[in-house]
Amino acid sequence: MSRLDSVIRRLQAQRACLQYGVELVRELSGPVFELGLGNGRTYDHLREICSGCEIFVFERSVAAHPDCIPDDAHLFLGDLSETLPAAVERFRGQVRLIHSDIGTGDQARNAEIARYIAGFLPDLLCPGGIIISDQDTVFAGAEPVALPDDVRSGRYFMYRAGPTG
Ligand SMILES: C[S@@+](CC[C@H](N)C(=O)[O-])C[C@H]1O[C@@H](n2cnc3c(N)ncnc32)[C@H](O)[C@@H]1O
Repeated sequence: MSRLDSVIRRLQAQRACLQYGVELVRELSGPVFELGLGNGRTYDHLREICSGCEIFVFERSVAAHPDCIPDDAHLFLGDLSETLPAAVERFRGQVRLIHSDIGTGDQARNAEIARYIAGFLPDLLCPGGIIISDQDTVFAGAEPVALPDDVRSGRYFMYRAGPTG
């Protein structure tokens, strides 16, 4: 597969998982978290497909398209090691959907940060809340969510918090 095909498939998988995740949490309440703003593509898409949701973005260094930058009240600016603990204090057990896209080319670092994020998920997600991630963020009490049909296993990851959160 060419690198172009690979990028296209990754973005299609990302879009399909976001769409499915938003549908799964449609009847829940609570905010949505976007971990890693990047150039703002997925944040912008979430805004579009999850209208009415309050979305908080976590980013250590904002460099997105100007149209895709949240207002200050919806931006946790800084490293996740500082902002996730603060978010738990504010949103414990309330978050209905988290999209995490913080991967780099460094697989060892990706696995480390995925484990770090996973440690916060039981405290952040509401019962039935969903995490969608480019890395495997399995967490205590997580139920795997079957990926959309056109997304191959391992390309993206989805888990749901159990009924007790
Ligand atoms: C791959 S990009 C996100 C792309 C985005 N989903 C999009 O569609 O445009 C990853 C982003 O995560 C941010 N990031 C990575 N590690 C972080 C950390 N430990 N704390 C805060 N932000 C982090 C990077 O600065 C980068 O902007």
